[in-house]
Amino acid sequence: MKVIVIFESTRGRTKAMAQAICEGVKAKGKECELVDAKEFNGIEGACALAVGSSTRMKRTLPKVKQILAEMSELNGIPTAAFGSFGWSGEAPDEIAKGLVGKGGKMIGEPLKVKDYPNEEQLAACSKLGEDLADACG
Ligand SMILES: Cc1cc2nc3c(=O)[nH]c(=O)nc-3n(C[C@H](O)[C@H](O)[C@H](O)COP(=O)(O)O)c2cc1C
Repeated sequence: MKVIVIFESTRGRTKAMAQAICEGVKAKGKECELVDAKEFNGIEGACALAVGSSTRMKRTLPKVKQILAEMSELNGIPTAAFGSFGWSGEAPDEIAKGLVGKGGKMIGEPLKVKDYPNEEQLAACSKLGEDLADACG
């Protein structure tokens, strides 16, 4: 069983958050699969799931939106939402709503970072990864 971290990112900022989340998962001795939304291929074998997108025109980026719309029932697995933003940051909240709608159990609040994540913010991402790994049991 592994934690799957799916991200869509235009300039690498949300990707940096996703990488830090995976570092946290691995620090807890669990496997982490980092998946670019463009290459998404299902969530088989996931004991927990994190989904991230930056915000564009107040919305989630299209690949992540599509993945959420088509996602199978999550049956209470631990989930988290994250993303970088510039000024309004709607995407992580929208993702969280989608995950809860599919039956995911949210771990923490949606994690939002303005622009590129700094050291402290990357540490918060890593901590989220640790929490997801712990929630996997
Ligand atoms: C065309 C365009 C539209 C954007 N619209 C929003 C927006 O509505 N709200 C917001 O908070 N940020 C908006 N942004 C800013 C991005 O979310 C921000 O640059 C973010 O750090 C990009 O992260 P990424 O590299 O992971 O894609 C927009 C950026 C672009 C280029």
